[in-house]
Amino acid sequence: MRLAIIGTGAMARYYAKLFDILDPVMVGRHGGPFLLKNGEQKTLVTPRFLPWSDAHAFLFDVVILAVKWPAMPLVREFLQDAPQELLVISTMNGMGQEEALIPPLAPEQLMVGITTDAVTAYWDNQAQLPAARVSAVGQTILPLLPHPFLPLWQKQLQILNLTSSWKFLSAKMVLRERWIKLIANSVINPLTALANVPNGELPRLPLWSLSTALIHEATNVAKTIGLSIDDDLSSRILQLCQATATNKSSMLQDIEQRKVTEIDAINGYIVRMGHNHAIDVSTHQALVHLIHMLSQQK
Ligand SMILES: NC(=O)c1ccc[n+]([C@@H]2O[C@H](COP(=O)([O-])OP(=O)(O)OC[C@H]3O[C@@H](n4cnc5c(N)ncnc54)[C@H](OP(=O)(O)O)[C@@H]3O)[C@@H](O)[C@H]2O)c1
Repeated sequence: MRLAIIGTGAMARYYAKLFDILDPVMVGRHGGPFLLKNGEQKTLVTPRFLPWSDAHAFLFDVVILAVKWPAMPLVREFLQDAPQELLVISTMNGMGQEEALIPPLAPEQLMVGITTDAVTAYWDNQAQLPAARVSAVGQTILPLLPHPFLPLWQKQLQILNLTSSWKFLSAKMVLRERWIKLIANSVINPLTALANVPNGELPRLPLWSLSTALIHEATNVAKTIGLSIDDDLSSRILQLCQATATNKSSMLQDIEQRKVTEIDAINGYIVRMGHNHAIDVSTHQALVHLIHMLSQQK
């Protein structure tokens, strides 16, 4: 199986090590060796690499998308000449992958799921190499699609002993899980970025009171597409902040590193959906605006 991993950041490094027996090719702006740190174990990984300009979808059978949203125009270009058999897997945060990538892909070629794996990119001073630190090995949930390569991919997961961490559910169940993760991200990411605090401090701040309106607006939007998310999201998100207390959210890290954030694919997606269905999403809209302003100031 010819596997491409799109991206060279934290998740891409993690996937390159996880699927190293498939000899994957990483696609991005800069390749080369890196360290993958998982617990006490540090592994040197030297995957094959292609720059965006030389990478074409027809060279691969399966593609894993592991980039941040600003790279989406390059991903679209890469997929322009995708053969019908190509299977594309995305565990990117945020929503809108289908709108961005179908076409050029057909709906059954794009498998969008979520992961609770947590990985952070860093520079290893000792080795003088780029690196990634795995802070949690969680669950990856993907939709069951009628694609000819899906059984082959599932076979690979079995060989790698990954069947308990990579799960396949109905498309409707995965969509519901994606929305729950979207809503959690839409609260934790922008609020921690605005307050400049790690996740665990957020519930102690006055800013946390916005979470009620954010959850209410987003669940109203989810209802319009037939998703009933009546779990107690507020306490689930509170628990998530506590379970990841010392973590800096990816949006806070992007702001600190003066990178473009994923706000438009997280709160921005909820705003676009809300406006399409005439639902009040003013709190999300305010946060999109504030994060854009914060990015410009940095
Ligand atoms: N890390 C996690 O624990 C985790 C968990 C769940 C989901 N996710 C999601 O997985 C995706 C990847 O996250 P990550 O943590 O791997 O991010 P990351 O470490 O910041 O890496 C991002 C990748 O996207 C590329 N990229 C960003 N902007 C680009 C642009 N304008 N043009 C070209 N390439 C660009 C970066 O290239 P350069 O290095 O060249 O800038 C890098 O290869 C995101 O959607 C994230 O939300 C991450």
